[in-house]
Amino acid sequence: MAATDAGAGCAPAPAPAPSGSADDPLEAILDAIADPVLLVGDGRVAAANRAARTLLGEHVVGEDARIAIRHPAAAERLLAGASPADAQPTELVGLGGRDTRWEMQVAMLPDARRLVHLVDRSAGHAAEKMRVDFVANASHELRTPLSAILGYVETLDDEKAGGDVAVRKRFLKIMHDEAQRMQRLVDDLMSLSRIEAEKYRAPDTAIDMAGLIAETHAVLRDQRGERGRDIVTDIDESLPFVAGDRAQLSQVLHNLINNAMKYGRPGTPITVSLARGPGSMIRLSVEDEGEGIAPEHLPRLTERFYRVDSSRSRALGGTGLGLAIVKHIIERHRGRLDIQSTLGRGTTVSALLPPAPLRLSSNGNSTVTGSV
Ligand SMILES: Nc1ncnc2c1ncn2[C@@H]1O[C@H](COP(=O)(O)OP(=O)(O)OP(=O)(O)O)[C@@H](O)[C@H]1O
Ligand SMILES: [Mg+2]
Repeated sequence: MAATDAGAGCAPAPAPAPSGSADDPLEAILDAIADPVLLVGDGRVAAANRAARTLLGEHVVGEDARIAIRHPAAAERLLAGASPADAQPTELVGLGGRDTRWEMQVAMLPDARRLVHLVDRSAGHAAEKMRVDFVANASHELRTPLSAILGYVETLDDEKAGGDVAVRKRFLKIMHDEAQRMQRLVDDLMSLSRIEAEKYRAPDTAIDMAGLIAETHAVLRDQRGERGRDIVTDIDESLPFVAGDRAQLSQVLHNLINNAMKYGRPGTPITVSLARGPGSMIRLSVEDEGEGIAPEHLPRLTERFYRVDSSRSRALGGTGLGLAIVKHIIERHRGRLDIQSTLGRGTTVSALLPPAPLRLSSNGNSTVTGSV
């Protein structure tokens, strides 16, 4: 260490690096900028930082700028003779990937070169699209049962149908079920917005997950008939408590076990396990033996209202919000959600949860080893 320092101190000053080499100060400055940045002179790319080369290709330096940034809107802005100095940023859709959105800002330098700065707006755009889709989907989900209720009210208003006791009873039952569906939907939507409102405040109560699983197990075994008796638990009792929100973790358990009950084969076990995960994390898993989920659906399952088979999920009383709620709760807990599934065999949904800090835990010796 000392020898290296002394060596460095005695070394002669390095000769100025040739332009374009790794030691070029301009290149070092450009590389330090996280966004893609290019210098364009006489219509050619004179320099491109690392982010720009990653986005557009290693070969862009020296290329015609319109070929380097292959986008019609960019080509127009980069044409020689144009005056982009006070122009608005240009939106480049699909640059470097199908669903991407970049904003290109061009500034004229005193030596007539142009500094091209690309800003990634894809995430903001995706969030905005999600918000618009969400409002449309929620309205649609609410309108369907509402239309059914209004239709039956009209029919019952008709003396002939409304006067018949059997018909009236049947229609009232349907109206009741549809109204309950709307209520479930509104409850789930409110639940989601509450979780989202709290997402920056990580829960910090020490929760005895093993106890919560045992409690949930007992309730479902008593309430859910034969399917409830298919639940089995596999719990490592030596684990520390979880840093969490009890009501929300109970909601996670209910949603995951309900899915396993609905989509697993009747008579096959639903295994709820609590085990040591990677690092100090604790892994909660719910495993079923059932129809499974095709791989193309897996990345979308936690989107709001996404269902593999919409009509079936609706017939089972589902809102399509269960896994979205689970995902948001796990994110609030600074955990991770993982869904593994094999068609025809079954599904395992796992959540990695952080342990409670040592002073909050009280679960025996293993708490000490598990949390340190
Ligand atoms: N264990 C599972 N096995 C097979 N498919 C599943 C499983 N869990 C979820 N799915 C699929 O994922 C979809 C989304 O699940 P999610 O829990 O979000 O909604 P849901 O179950 O339809 O409605 P809700 O949870 O409101 O009752 C389901 O419609 C179903 O197609
Ligand atoms: Mg569900």
